[in-house]
Amino acid sequence: MKPVKVGVLGLGTVGGGTVNVLKRNAAEIARRAGREITITRASVKDLDKLRICDTQGIILTTDPMDIINDPDIDIVVELIGGAGLVKELVLKAISNGKHVVTANKSLIALHGNEIFAKASEKGVIVAFEAAVAGGIPIIKAIREGLSGNQIEWLAGIINGTGNFILTEMRDKGRDFNDVLAEAQALGYAEADPTFDVEGIDAGHKLTILASIAFGIPLQFDKVYTEGITGITRLDVEYAEQLGYRIKHLGIARKMPNGIELRVHPTLIPERRLIANVNGVMNAVVVKGDAVGPSLYYGAGAGAEPTASAVVADLIDVARALTSDPENRVPHLAFQADALVDIPVLPAAQFRTAYYLRLNAEDKPGALADVTRILADHHISIEAIIQREPAGDATAIPIILLTEITLEHEMNAAITKIEALKTVTGKVNRIRLETLR
Ligand code: NDP
Ligand code: HSE
Repeated sequence: MKPVKVGVLGLGTVGGGTVNVLKRNAAEIARRAGREITITRASVKDLDKLRICDTQGIILTTDPMDIINDPDIDIVVELIGGAGLVKELVLKAISNGKHVVTANKSLIALHGNEIFAKASEKGVIVAFEAAVAGGIPIIKAIREGLSGNQIEWLAGIINGTGNFILTEMRDKGRDFNDVLAEAQALGYAEADPTFDVEGIDAGHKLTILASIAFGIPLQFDKVYTEGITGITRLDVEYAEQLGYRIKHLGIARKMPNGIELRVHPTLIPERRLIANVNGVMNAVVVKGDAVGPSLYYGAGAGAEPTASAVVADLIDVARALTSDPENRVPHLAFQADALVDIPVLPAAQFRTAYYLRLNAEDKPGALADVTRILADHHISIEAIIQREPAGDATAIPIILLTEITLEHEMNAAITKIEALKTVTGKVNRIRLETLR
């Protein structure tokens, strides 16, 4: 059979890794795909830039349209990033009848509904394994491996940069900005690294995971996102004293009244495997009604781990080139006409437990005032610790763990606690999940 011809848009971290993996493993890949997969063209911004890959045999251009309009190209691999110009490029590639492979989670999370509709109309595949959790084949696992289950919830560390920063800060006491700069140098971070540290990138990925887990349309605008910049060393230490780790999690959970979609720092019991996922590694726990909990672990970012997922998609597309479009795995796991509009719950309706840290005057009754307010809001306390004041300070730090409650009850309780004369400053709250 004649080789499958691939055009790559972008030869940076992931594009370079993809060229390297495809070239190095060409023979094995051909044995798996049933034919050779060859990159014949690539587009870049700067033709003179030093590359991490050997571009011999690849015709380079600065105009992605040269590739999209080339009738010899079977598959376009989009590895530029962003959701503006790239959306137009991908839609044009689809209308030209090309299959598309992308690692771009923002593109899929923001424009996937439109892109998949267009792809189905044209009978082409848009594959996006690399868009979530780097090298972990989590899309395939949920979409195919767990397709007999009703998915109840999933929770994951789905941003490598954020987990790398948290780990280095906790284990080596390093400075936030230093570690972020290293993550950028290693090619882990997004072009705009605020996407990594503010939870936006994880929100994009959670949007995709929720869609394929529950059969709902992609809806990033309904995801609650909170980043890692508010996590303090003090909270990390108190959490550890209580037997927890703080991780930045994306959580999607089906509740009787709708779906929770949330990204935020979370206390997790330290004995959970996912609490011990460090550095650039990612992990996703998926709870299915039949399989129970299952855990997927691997590198969440970086050139070759991500290329592993891109190349797997290329092989899948190469195998499916001759198949009937109706008989392919649906883009979002469920048949396009079977997606349902289950409501996504507002944050006020989240149900979760909490870690609270506050400073109160060392006076009789100060703690009782706090616990009374929590009781008034039907919030039960699971654990309480009271520390000595730091240095010359007169206020004593109080740390509370609560049972599961409704977020709006907690919001109201915190407002009242902060108004107490005996409480100084803000209440620091972090959500807590047992992931049972
Ligand atoms: P890079 O910034 O390393 O690479 C981007 C590439 O796109 C570069 O080769 C750049 O050219 C090229 N490019 C930029 N603008 C244009 C343009 N207008 N026309 C043509 N080419 C252009 O990004 P990454 O490889 O890190 O990321 C690519 C995608 O993969 C993103 O969507 C990202 O979110 C996703 N991703 C990244 C992961 C990672 O670990 N880095 C992991 C998983 C997904 P030049 O080199 O000449 O500047
Ligand atoms: N910036 C992303 C991360 C790349 O750090 O997880 C992988 O999607």
